[in-house]
Amino acid sequence: MYRVTLDDPSSLGEWRSKARALLLAGIEPAQVEWQAESGGLFGAADALPPPRDDVRPPGVPRDFVTLANGVLAHSDPRRHAVLYRMLWRLAHGEKHLLSVATDDDVAWTRACVKQVGRDMHKMKAFVRFREVKLDGESVYVAWFEPAHDIVTRVAPFFVRRFTGMRWSLLTPSRTAHWDGATLSFGPGASRADAPSDDALEDLWRTYYASIFNPARLKVDAMRREMPVRYWKNLPEARLIPELVRDALPRMQAMVEKQPTVPRKKITPLQKAADDAPEGSLTALRKQAKDCRACDLWKPATQTVFGEGPAHARIVVIGEQPGDQEDLAGKPFVGPAGKLFDRALGDAGVERDQLYVTNAVKHFRFEPRGKVRLHKRASAEQQAACRPWLAAEIDRIQPERIVCLGAMAAQAVFGSSFRLMAQRGEWLDLPDGRKAMATVHPSYLLRVPDPGEREKAYAEFVRDLALMRDD
Ligand code: URA
Ligand code: SF4
Repeated sequence: MYRVTLDDPSSLGEWRSKARALLLAGIEPAQVEWQAESGGLFGAADALPPPRDDVRPPGVPRDFVTLANGVLAHSDPRRHAVLYRMLWRLAHGEKHLLSVATDDDVAWTRACVKQVGRDMHKMKAFVRFREVKLDGESVYVAWFEPAHDIVTRVAPFFVRRFTGMRWSLLTPSRTAHWDGATLSFGPGASRADAPSDDALEDLWRTYYASIFNPARLKVDAMRREMPVRYWKNLPEARLIPELVRDALPRMQAMVEKQPTVPRKKITPLQKAADDAPEGSLTALRKQAKDCRACDLWKPATQTVFGEGPAHARIVVIGEQPGDQEDLAGKPFVGPAGKLFDRALGDAGVERDQLYVTNAVKHFRFEPRGKVRLHKRASAEQQAACRPWLAAEIDRIQPERIVCLGAMAAQAVFGSSFRLMAQRGEWLDLPDGRKAMATVHPSYLLRVPDPGEREKAYAEFVRDLALMRDD
């Protein structure tokens, strides 16, 4: 029996590396006992076994990684074992396991992901921040008891919502802190079942001490602002309508208070993230086939969704599909795509490492006799389509984003972005990513003077080559 200890039982990275080591050592699921947190009753964990020469590293479907990431946030202690069993099965001849919806493991993990999703939703809707004055500055603190370990997964949502404020989100398993610039996580706020207010105050003081200047704590103000323990004392029936009723004005009030701290820009893409559909990248692609969020779907042949590795380091965003993309159902396969491929080649970047998509997923055109003339999507159509783009980026979590053309650049940087003045350099996005904009390849096709065109092409290649740097 192998006893495997997990320091952070909801971390994908830790589970993944340990599961992989077990798999490469040929250790069957029944021989493994997964144990959360180290140094418990059973003493030290067994050392992970060495890999066996006759076991090949498995090719794991991207969807499984997405699924595992959701399942690991769940609180059920069986999750590590179930996931390992699935991984084992995937690697031992059941390649298509994930599409067998009736399979017990598949059904169980899907249910877990759903519950985690619902929990995240609840947390987004019901978290109640309280204002605490620290040295004349407002800090917002919320206590919440999610059913699952979702704090790291939900915190970015609060960063987007309350970017210009300092806040702390306390939960039993983990805490999240935003100081206006950096998001950090700390250990859980371990509140005994019904601690006294004093205990809670100590707790807060500890958290503040670690984030803010402890010498400046205003203990009286904090005492006045202690959270009422709604969650346990009020019956659900009374609690929920009140929270629902209060949620919106409360958020608006908080947002209005923001000007005391310079407010960070929220990009169109970040805004769209709140409406981004859920589900894996594959699920998104499927759903997008039937999108009716604007009128572009009607005359077009099909939705042209993004393509590329589900965990690509770089996402490239174009504008909208053209005639050939519409027919093929793939992005950048027509004349602009060919030129893009050539420029990537000249820049020394491999296209199959990139996830390539568009700001708008349907071809917009005007029929002229037999030809369909490209027409730029309207601002409304771009906005309607943005949640798809936001969802792609959310699922892929790329380190970098490259925008081809002004439409993509303005979705990513905001409408004040000026392509020609700001192209060709990595800029910081509010979420910590880096993004760059360059011209659209179809622009190059339209430059009339051959000498100018060549020059523009060389600049385009130079910009694309920046993807190779770190
Ligand atoms: N132009 C784009 O912006 N995207 C495509 O997919 C094709 C042409
Ligand atoms: Fe939906 Fe985008 Fe197509 Fe409009 S263009 S129907 S929003 S996929």
